[in-house]
Amino acid sequence: MAEKVLSARFETADSMSLATYQADGGYTALKKALEMKPEEVIEVVKASGLRGRGGAGFPAGLKWSFVPKESDKPKYLCVNADEGEPGTFKDRYIMELDPHAIIEGSAITCYAFGSNVAYIYVRGEFKLPIKRLEQALAEARQAGLVGKNVLESGFDFEMWVHPGAGAYICGEETALIESNEGHRGMPRLKPPFPAVVGLFGGPTVVNNVETLAFVPHIINKGAEWFAGLGPEKNGGTKLYGVSGHVKKPGIYELPMGTPLREIIYDHCGGIRNDRELKAVIPGGSSTPVLTADEIDVNMDFDSLAKIGSMLGSGAIIVMDQTTCMVRAITRLGKFYAHESCGQCTPCREGVPWIHKILERIENGQGRVGDIDLLLSICDNIQGNTICPLGDACAMPVRGFIDKFSPEFEEHIEKGKCPIGPFVKPW
Ligand SMILES: Cc1cc2nc3c(=O)[nH]c(=O)nc-3n(C[C@H](O)[C@H](O)[C@H](O)COP(=O)(O)O)c2cc1C
Repeated sequence: MAEKVLSARFETADSMSLATYQADGGYTALKKALEMKPEEVIEVVKASGLRGRGGAGFPAGLKWSFVPKESDKPKYLCVNADEGEPGTFKDRYIMELDPHAIIEGSAITCYAFGSNVAYIYVRGEFKLPIKRLEQALAEARQAGLVGKNVLESGFDFEMWVHPGAGAYICGEETALIESNEGHRGMPRLKPPFPAVVGLFGGPTVVNNVETLAFVPHIINKGAEWFAGLGPEKNGGTKLYGVSGHVKKPGIYELPMGTPLREIIYDHCGGIRNDRELKAVIPGGSSTPVLTADEIDVNMDFDSLAKIGSMLGSGAIIVMDQTTCMVRAITRLGKFYAHESCGQCTPCREGVPWIHKILERIENGQGRVGDIDLLLSICDNIQGNTICPLGDACAMPVRGFIDKFSPEFEEHIEKGKCPIGPFVKPW
Protein backbone atom coordinates (compact mmCIF):
# COMPACT_ATOMS: atom_id res chain seq x y z
CA MET A 1 0.00 0.00 0.00
CA ALA A 2 1.38 3.36 -1.01
CA GLU A 3 2.05 5.80 1.83
CA LYS A 4 -0.74 8.30 2.43
CA VAL A 5 0.33 11.78 3.42
CA LEU A 6 -2.38 14.35 2.73
CA SER A 7 -5.27 11.93 2.76
CA ALA A 8 -4.07 9.97 5.83
CA ARG A 9 -6.56 11.81 8.07
CA PHE A 10 -9.47 12.03 5.61
CA GLU A 11 -11.29 9.12 7.29
CA THR A 12 -10.56 10.14 10.87
CA ALA A 13 -13.73 11.03 12.77
CA ASP A 14 -13.93 14.81 13.26
CA SER A 15 -10.67 15.19 11.27
CA MET A 16 -11.32 18.90 10.82
CA SER A 17 -11.14 19.75 14.52
CA LEU A 18 -8.07 21.13 16.28
CA ALA A 19 -8.32 18.42 18.96
CA THR A 20 -7.99 15.50 16.51
CA TYR A 21 -5.40 17.35 14.43
CA GLN A 22 -3.23 17.88 17.49
CA ALA A 23 -3.81 14.32 18.69
CA ASP A 24 -2.36 13.22 15.32
CA GLY A 25 0.73 15.39 15.78
CA GLY A 26 -0.67 18.59 14.28
CA TYR A 27 1.22 21.87 14.82
CA THR A 28 4.41 20.09 15.95
CA ALA A 29 5.94 21.01 12.58
CA LEU A 30 5.13 24.68 13.20
CA LYS A 31 6.86 24.48 16.57
CA LYS A 32 9.86 22.79 14.98
CA ALA A 33 10.02 25.33 12.11
CA LEU A 34 9.87 28.27 14.51
CA GLU A 35 12.98 26.88 16.22
CA MET A 36 14.81 26.84 12.86
CA LYS A 37 16.12 29.84 10.94
CA PRO A 38 13.77 30.91 8.12
CA GLU A 39 16.47 30.17 5.50
CA GLU A 40 16.81 26.64 6.90
CA VAL A 41 13.08 26.05 6.39
CA ILE A 42 13.42 27.17 2.77
CA GLU A 43 16.43 24.87 2.27
CA VAL A 44 14.51 21.83 3.60
CA VAL A 45 11.57 22.52 1.27
CA LYS A 46 13.94 23.06 -1.67
CA ALA A 47 15.71 19.76 -0.95
CA SER A 48 12.39 17.92 -0.69
CA GLY A 49 11.65 18.51 -4.38
CA LEU A 50 8.16 19.86 -3.57
CA ARG A 51 6.72 21.31 -6.77
CA GLY A 52 3.60 23.45 -6.97
CA ARG A 53 0.42 21.43 -7.26
CA GLY A 54 -1.65 24.25 -8.83
CA GLY A 55 -0.64 23.40 -12.38
CA ALA A 56 2.75 24.73 -13.39
CA GLY A 57 4.86 22.57 -11.07
CA PHE A 58 7.23 25.34 -10.02
CA PRO A 59 9.55 24.34 -7.12
CA ALA A 60 8.01 25.77 -3.93
CA GLY A 61 11.19 26.48 -1.95
CA LEU A 62 12.76 28.22 -4.93
CA LYS A 63 9.70 30.47 -5.30
CA TRP A 64 9.93 31.49 -1.63
CA SER A 65 13.63 32.27 -2.05
CA PHE A 66 12.79 34.89 -4.73
CA VAL A 67 11.06 37.09 -2.13
CA PRO A 68 13.42 39.95 -1.22
CA LYS A 69 14.56 39.84 2.41
CA GLU A 70 14.25 43.60 2.87
CA SER A 71 10.98 45.26 1.89
CA ASP A 72 9.37 48.54 2.91
CA LYS A 73 5.95 46.96 2.30
CA PRO A 74 4.43 43.99 4.15
CA LYS A 75 4.87 40.59 2.53
CA TYR A 76 1.93 38.30 1.89
CA LEU A 77 1.05 34.70 1.25
CA CYS A 78 -1.96 34.03 -1.00
CA VAL A 79 -3.25 30.50 -0.74
CA ASN A 80 -4.81 29.56 -4.06
CA ALA A 81 -8.03 27.70 -3.24
CA ASP A 82 -9.89 28.76 -6.36
CA GLU A 83 -9.88 25.21 -7.78
CA GLY A 84 -11.37 26.36 -11.08
CA GLU A 85 -9.76 24.02 -13.61
CA PRO A 86 -12.46 21.71 -14.99
CA GLY A 87 -12.00 18.19 -13.67
CA THR A 88 -10.19 19.34 -10.51
CA PHE A 89 -11.68 18.56 -7.11
CA LYS A 90 -8.77 17.78 -4.79
CA ASP A 91 -8.25 20.98 -2.78
CA ARG A 92 -11.80 20.92 -1.47
CA TYR A 93 -11.08 17.59 0.25
CA ILE A 94 -8.15 19.11 2.11
CA MET A 95 -10.17 22.20 3.06
CA GLU A 96 -13.16 20.18 4.24
CA LEU A 97 -11.33 17.33 5.96
CA ASP A 98 -7.97 18.72 7.07
CA PRO A 99 -8.15 22.54 7.21
CA HIS A 100 -5.56 22.80 9.99
CA ALA A 101 -2.95 21.27 7.66
CA ILE A 102 -3.42 24.29 5.38
CA ILE A 103 -3.23 26.75 8.27
CA GLU A 104 -0.09 25.09 9.67
CA GLY A 105 1.53 24.90 6.21
CA SER A 106 0.70 28.56 5.59
CA ALA A 107 2.16 29.67 8.94
CA ILE A 108 5.40 27.79 8.26
CA THR A 109 5.58 29.22 4.74
CA CYS A 110 5.04 32.79 5.97
CA TYR A 111 7.72 32.33 8.61
CA ALA A 112 10.11 31.02 5.94
CA PHE A 113 9.89 34.03 3.63
CA GLY A 114 9.28 36.72 6.22
CA SER A 115 5.54 37.34 6.01
CA ASN A 116 3.01 37.74 8.80
CA VAL A 117 -0.23 37.59 6.81
CA ALA A 118 -1.87 34.93 4.67
CA TYR A 119 -5.10 35.14 2.72
CA ILE A 120 -6.80 32.00 1.51
CA TYR A 121 -8.66 32.86 -1.68
CA VAL A 122 -11.47 30.30 -1.95
CA ARG A 123 -13.89 29.96 -4.85
CA GLY A 124 -17.23 31.40 -3.81
CA GLU A 125 -19.25 28.23 -4.45
CA PHE A 126 -17.23 26.31 -1.84
CA LYS A 127 -19.60 26.97 1.06
CA LEU A 128 -18.56 24.00 3.21
CA PRO A 129 -14.80 24.49 2.71
CA ILE A 130 -15.22 28.18 3.64
CA LYS A 131 -17.13 27.23 6.78
CA ARG A 132 -14.58 24.60 7.80
CA LEU A 133 -11.67 26.99 7.24
CA GLU A 134 -13.35 29.73 9.28
CA GLN A 135 -14.02 27.26 12.10
CA ALA A 136 -10.45 25.96 12.03
CA LEU A 137 -9.05 29.50 12.04
CA ALA A 138 -11.20 30.46 15.02
CA GLU A 139 -9.95 27.40 16.92
CA ALA A 140 -6.32 28.06 15.97
CA ARG A 141 -6.64 31.70 16.98
CA GLN A 142 -8.02 30.76 20.37
CA ALA A 143 -5.20 28.27 20.92
CA GLY A 144 -2.51 30.86 20.17
CA LEU A 145 -1.53 29.19 16.88
CA VAL A 146 -2.70 32.16 14.84
CA GLY A 147 -2.35 35.74 16.03
CA LYS A 148 0.36 37.61 17.91
CA ASN A 149 3.41 35.79 19.25
CA VAL A 150 2.55 32.31 17.92
CA LEU A 151 3.57 29.60 20.41
CA GLU A 152 5.42 32.35 22.29
CA SER A 153 8.05 32.43 19.56
CA GLY A 154 7.84 36.14 18.81
CA PHE A 155 6.37 35.34 15.36
CA ASP A 156 3.05 37.06 14.52
CA PHE A 157 0.78 35.33 12.01
CA GLU A 158 -2.67 36.33 10.78
CA MET A 159 -4.76 34.45 8.25
CA TRP A 160 -8.01 35.42 6.56
CA VAL A 161 -10.48 33.60 4.34
CA HIS A 162 -11.32 35.54 1.19
CA PRO A 163 -14.24 34.03 -0.78
CA GLY A 164 -14.15 34.73 -4.52
CA ALA A 165 -17.15 35.12 -6.78
CA GLY A 166 -16.72 32.13 -9.05
CA ALA A 167 -14.50 33.13 -11.97
CA TYR A 168 -11.95 30.72 -13.45
CA ILE A 169 -9.56 33.56 -14.21
CA CYS A 170 -9.31 34.39 -10.50
CA GLY A 171 -7.26 31.19 -10.09
CA GLU A 172 -4.49 32.75 -12.20
CA GLU A 173 -2.11 34.14 -9.61
CA THR A 174 -2.07 37.81 -10.62
CA ALA A 175 -5.85 37.93 -11.24
CA LEU A 176 -6.23 36.32 -7.81
CA ILE A 177 -4.17 39.14 -6.32
CA GLU A 178 -6.30 41.77 -8.11
CA SER A 179 -9.48 40.10 -6.90
CA ASN A 180 -8.10 39.72 -3.37
CA GLU A 181 -7.53 43.49 -3.41
CA GLY A 182 -11.20 43.98 -4.25
CA HIS A 183 -10.75 44.72 -7.96
CA ARG A 184 -12.12 42.94 -10.99
CA GLY A 185 -10.06 39.76 -11.47
CA MET A 186 -7.87 40.60 -14.44
CA PRO A 187 -4.30 39.31 -14.79
CA ARG A 188 -1.33 41.66 -14.45
CA LEU A 189 1.64 41.86 -16.77
CA LYS A 190 4.74 40.05 -15.50
CA PRO A 191 7.39 41.22 -14.67
CA PRO A 192 7.25 42.42 -11.99
CA PHE A 193 6.51 38.97 -10.58
CA PRO A 194 4.34 38.68 -7.45
CA ALA A 195 7.39 37.65 -5.41
CA VAL A 196 8.58 41.25 -5.85
CA VAL A 197 5.38 43.27 -6.38
CA GLY A 198 2.21 41.43 -5.46
CA LEU A 199 -0.71 41.93 -3.11
CA PHE A 200 -1.15 45.60 -2.11
CA GLY A 201 2.22 46.20 -3.81
CA GLY A 202 4.08 43.97 -1.34
CA PRO A 203 6.21 40.89 -2.12
CA THR A 204 3.80 37.96 -2.39
CA VAL A 205 3.94 34.20 -2.69
CA VAL A 206 1.01 32.45 -4.31
CA ASN A 207 0.81 28.73 -3.62
CA ASN A 208 -1.83 26.09 -4.16
CA VAL A 209 -3.65 24.46 -1.21
CA GLU A 210 -2.17 21.01 -1.87
CA THR A 211 1.36 22.45 -2.11
CA LEU A 212 1.05 24.13 1.29
CA ALA A 213 -0.60 21.18 3.01
CA PHE A 214 2.54 19.13 2.32
CA VAL A 215 4.80 21.60 4.14
CA PRO A 216 4.19 20.42 7.77
CA HIS A 217 4.87 16.81 6.74
CA ILE A 218 8.14 17.82 5.07
CA ILE A 219 9.28 19.71 8.17
CA ASN A 220 8.39 16.80 10.44
CA LYS A 221 9.65 13.88 8.37
CA GLY A 222 12.44 15.55 6.41
CA ALA A 223 13.35 16.44 2.85
CA GLU A 224 14.84 13.08 2.04
CA TRP A 225 11.70 11.18 3.03
CA PHE A 226 9.52 13.41 0.82
CA ALA A 227 11.89 13.36 -2.16
CA GLY A 228 12.03 9.55 -1.91
CA LEU A 229 8.27 9.20 -2.31
CA GLY A 230 8.44 10.20 -5.99
CA PRO A 231 10.86 10.10 -8.91
CA GLU A 232 13.77 12.52 -9.28
CA LYS A 233 12.73 16.21 -9.24
CA ASN A 234 9.12 15.18 -8.59
CA GLY A 235 9.03 14.65 -4.84
CA GLY A 236 6.11 13.39 -2.82
CA THR A 237 2.73 11.93 -3.43
CA LYS A 238 -0.08 13.50 -5.47
CA LEU A 239 -3.81 13.75 -5.03
CA TYR A 240 -5.02 12.52 -8.42
CA GLY A 241 -8.68 13.34 -9.03
CA VAL A 242 -10.23 10.91 -11.48
CA SER A 243 -13.54 11.60 -13.19
CA GLY A 244 -15.38 10.45 -16.30
CA HIS A 245 -15.93 6.93 -17.54
CA VAL A 246 -14.20 4.87 -14.85
CA LYS A 247 -15.90 2.45 -12.50
CA LYS A 248 -14.64 4.18 -9.34
CA PRO A 249 -14.08 7.90 -9.82
CA GLY A 250 -12.62 9.86 -6.90
CA ILE A 251 -9.48 11.18 -5.24
CA TYR A 252 -6.51 8.81 -5.11
CA GLU A 253 -3.33 9.72 -3.26
CA LEU A 254 -0.46 7.90 -4.94
CA PRO A 255 3.26 8.45 -5.41
CA MET A 256 4.20 11.02 -8.03
CA GLY A 257 4.95 9.17 -11.23
CA THR A 258 2.37 6.40 -10.79
CA PRO A 259 1.60 5.07 -14.30
CA LEU A 260 -1.67 6.36 -15.73
CA ARG A 261 -2.67 2.83 -16.72
CA GLU A 262 -2.33 1.69 -13.09
CA ILE A 263 -4.48 4.59 -11.88
CA ILE A 264 -7.25 3.88 -14.37
CA TYR A 265 -7.30 0.09 -14.31
CA ASP A 266 -6.05 -0.89 -10.84
CA HIS A 267 -7.21 1.95 -8.60
CA CYS A 268 -10.31 3.09 -10.47
CA GLY A 269 -11.44 -0.40 -11.49
CA GLY A 270 -11.18 0.18 -15.27
CA ILE A 271 -13.70 1.59 -17.72
CA ARG A 272 -17.37 1.62 -16.83
CA ASN A 273 -19.40 -1.18 -18.42
CA ASP A 274 -16.03 -2.66 -19.50
CA ARG A 275 -16.05 -0.50 -22.59
CA GLU A 276 -12.95 0.42 -24.54
CA LEU A 277 -10.85 3.40 -23.48
CA LYS A 278 -10.72 6.17 -26.06
CA ALA A 279 -8.88 9.14 -24.56
CA VAL A 280 -7.65 10.67 -21.32
CA ILE A 281 -7.11 14.28 -20.32
CA PRO A 282 -4.29 13.84 -17.79
CA GLY A 283 -4.20 17.04 -15.72
CA GLY A 284 -7.30 19.20 -16.00
CA SER A 285 -9.08 20.48 -19.09
CA SER A 286 -6.25 22.68 -20.35
CA THR A 287 -3.74 19.83 -20.65
CA PRO A 288 -3.40 18.16 -24.07
CA VAL A 289 -5.38 14.94 -24.43
CA LEU A 290 -3.76 11.48 -24.62
CA THR A 291 -4.93 8.54 -26.71
CA ALA A 292 -5.57 5.07 -25.26
CA ASP A 293 -2.11 4.06 -26.55
CA GLU A 294 -0.38 6.67 -24.41
CA ILE A 295 -1.49 5.63 -20.93
CA ASP A 296 1.74 3.90 -20.00
CA VAL A 297 3.09 7.34 -19.14
CA ASN A 298 4.17 8.05 -15.55
CA MET A 299 2.03 10.74 -13.95
CA ASP A 300 4.66 13.32 -13.00
CA PHE A 301 5.58 16.75 -14.36
CA ASP A 302 8.57 15.67 -16.46
CA SER A 303 7.21 12.42 -17.92
CA LEU A 304 4.04 14.11 -19.19
CA ALA A 305 5.99 17.06 -20.61
CA LYS A 306 8.13 14.57 -22.56
CA ILE A 307 5.08 13.29 -24.44
CA GLY A 308 3.72 16.77 -25.12
CA SER A 309 1.18 17.05 -22.32
CA MET A 310 1.17 18.27 -18.71
CA LEU A 311 0.49 17.02 -15.19
CA GLY A 312 -1.39 20.28 -14.49
CA SER A 313 -3.56 19.84 -11.41
CA GLY A 314 -3.54 16.03 -11.71
CA ALA A 315 -7.23 15.96 -12.68
CA ILE A 316 -7.65 12.90 -14.88
CA ILE A 317 -10.71 12.89 -17.17
CA VAL A 318 -11.33 9.49 -18.72
CA MET A 319 -13.36 9.06 -21.93
CA ASP A 320 -14.58 5.76 -23.31
CA GLN A 321 -15.41 4.75 -26.89
CA THR A 322 -18.87 6.34 -26.72
CA THR A 323 -17.36 9.84 -26.46
CA CYS A 324 -17.52 12.17 -29.44
CA MET A 325 -14.20 14.01 -29.35
CA VAL A 326 -15.61 16.97 -31.25
CA ARG A 327 -18.42 17.30 -28.73
CA ALA A 328 -16.01 16.98 -25.80
CA ILE A 329 -13.73 19.79 -26.99
CA THR A 330 -16.72 21.93 -28.03
CA ARG A 331 -17.96 21.76 -24.43
CA LEU A 332 -14.55 22.77 -23.13
CA GLY A 333 -14.38 25.58 -25.71
CA LYS A 334 -17.68 26.89 -24.38
CA PHE A 335 -16.20 27.02 -20.89
CA TYR A 336 -13.11 28.95 -21.98
CA ALA A 337 -15.15 31.36 -24.13
CA HIS A 338 -17.32 32.09 -21.10
CA GLU A 339 -14.33 32.53 -18.77
CA SER A 340 -12.06 34.74 -20.91
CA CYS A 341 -11.72 37.96 -18.93
CA GLY A 342 -11.67 40.04 -22.12
CA GLN A 343 -8.50 41.97 -21.40
CA CYS A 344 -6.41 40.67 -24.35
CA THR A 345 -7.79 40.76 -27.90
CA PRO A 346 -6.46 37.34 -29.06
CA CYS A 347 -8.20 35.60 -26.14
CA ARG A 348 -11.35 37.75 -26.01
CA GLU A 349 -12.00 37.38 -29.77
CA GLY A 350 -10.19 34.11 -30.55
CA VAL A 351 -11.56 31.83 -27.85
CA PRO A 352 -15.29 32.47 -28.58
CA TRP A 353 -14.47 32.15 -32.31
CA ILE A 354 -12.89 28.73 -31.64
CA HIS A 355 -16.03 27.72 -29.78
CA LYS A 356 -18.29 28.93 -32.61
CA ILE A 357 -16.36 26.90 -35.21
CA LEU A 358 -16.28 23.78 -33.03
CA GLU A 359 -19.99 24.08 -32.44
CA ARG A 360 -20.79 24.24 -36.14
CA ILE A 361 -18.56 21.21 -36.84
CA GLU A 362 -20.31 19.30 -34.07
CA ASN A 363 -23.73 20.34 -35.45
CA GLY A 364 -22.87 19.01 -38.91
CA GLN A 365 -22.36 22.44 -40.46
CA GLY A 366 -18.56 22.38 -40.54
CA ARG A 367 -16.87 23.85 -43.59
CA VAL A 368 -13.85 22.68 -45.58
CA GLY A 369 -10.94 24.62 -44.11
CA ASP A 370 -12.40 24.82 -40.60
CA ILE A 371 -9.66 22.62 -39.11
CA ASP A 372 -6.93 24.83 -40.59
CA LEU A 373 -8.82 27.89 -39.42
CA LEU A 374 -8.97 26.51 -35.86
CA LEU A 375 -5.24 25.82 -35.89
CA SER A 376 -4.46 29.30 -37.19
CA ILE A 377 -6.58 30.90 -34.45
CA CYS A 378 -4.69 28.78 -31.89
CA ASP A 379 -1.40 30.06 -33.40
CA ASN A 380 -2.58 33.62 -32.96
CA ILE A 381 -3.60 33.11 -29.34
CA GLN A 382 -0.70 31.07 -28.00
CA GLY A 383 2.00 33.20 -26.43
CA ASN A 384 0.21 36.44 -27.35
CA THR A 385 -1.75 37.18 -24.19
CA ILE A 386 -0.99 38.51 -20.71
CA CYS A 387 -1.95 35.26 -18.97
CA PRO A 388 -2.15 31.63 -20.10
CA LEU A 389 -6.00 31.38 -20.19
CA GLY A 390 -5.96 31.69 -23.99
CA ASP A 391 -3.26 29.00 -24.18
CA ALA A 392 -5.35 26.87 -21.82
CA CYS A 393 -7.99 26.77 -24.56
CA ALA A 394 -5.67 26.64 -27.59
CA MET A 395 -3.53 23.76 -26.26
CA PRO A 396 -6.34 21.23 -25.80
CA VAL A 397 -8.00 22.28 -29.10
CA ARG A 398 -4.72 21.61 -30.90
CA GLY A 399 -4.32 18.35 -28.98
CA PHE A 400 -7.79 17.06 -29.85
CA ILE A 401 -7.26 17.92 -33.54
CA ASP A 402 -3.76 16.38 -33.61
CA LYS A 403 -4.83 13.11 -32.04
CA PHE A 404 -8.34 12.72 -33.44
CA SER A 405 -8.33 14.55 -36.79
CA PRO A 406 -10.25 11.79 -38.68
CA GLU A 407 -13.18 12.36 -36.32
CA PHE A 408 -13.20 16.09 -37.08
CA GLU A 409 -12.91 15.41 -40.83
CA GLU A 410 -15.75 12.88 -40.72
CA HIS A 411 -18.04 15.39 -39.01
CA ILE A 412 -17.31 17.93 -41.75
CA GLU A 413 -17.53 15.49 -44.68
CA LYS A 414 -20.67 13.64 -43.58
CA GLY A 415 -22.37 16.63 -41.98
CA LYS A 416 -23.14 14.68 -38.81
CA CYS A 417 -21.61 13.12 -35.73
CA PRO A 418 -20.37 9.55 -36.42
CA ILE A 419 -21.00 8.58 -32.80
CA GLY A 420 -24.65 9.66 -32.92
CA PRO A 421 -26.65 12.06 -30.79
CA PHE A 422 -25.60 12.62 -27.21
CA VAL A 423 -27.49 10.43 -24.77
CA LYS A 424 -27.38 11.60 -21.17
CA PRO A 425 -26.20 8.76 -18.93
CA TRP A 426 -28.20 10.16 -16.03
C1 LIG B 1 -6.45 30.59 -16.06
C2 LIG B 1 -5.72 30.00 -14.90
C3 LIG B 1 -6.40 29.46 -13.84
C4 LIG B 1 -5.72 28.93 -12.74
N1 LIG B 1 -6.44 28.40 -11.72
C5 LIG B 1 -5.80 27.90 -10.63
C6 LIG B 1 -6.53 27.37 -9.55
O1 LIG B 1 -7.77 27.33 -9.55
N2 LIG B 1 -5.83 26.90 -8.47
C7 LIG B 1 -4.45 26.94 -8.43
O2 LIG B 1 -3.86 26.53 -7.43
N3 LIG B 1 -3.73 27.42 -9.46
C8 LIG B 1 -4.38 27.92 -10.55
N4 LIG B 1 -3.64 28.45 -11.58
C9 LIG B 1 -2.16 28.51 -11.43
C10 LIG B 1 -1.73 29.77 -10.67
O3 LIG B 1 -1.59 30.84 -11.56
C11 LIG B 1 -0.39 29.57 -9.96
O4 LIG B 1 0.55 29.05 -10.85
C12 LIG B 1 -0.48 28.65 -8.74
O5 LIG B 1 -1.46 29.06 -7.83
C13 LIG B 1 0.85 28.64 -8.02
O6 LIG B 1 0.82 27.74 -6.94
P1 LIG B 1 1.77 26.46 -6.89
O7 LIG B 1 3.15 26.93 -7.25
O8 LIG B 1 1.66 25.97 -5.51
O9 LIG B 1 1.25 25.49 -7.89
C14 LIG B 1 -4.31 28.96 -12.71
C15 LIG B 1 -3.60 29.49 -13.81
C16 LIG B 1 -4.30 30.00 -14.88
C17 LIG B 1 -3.51 30.54 -16.03
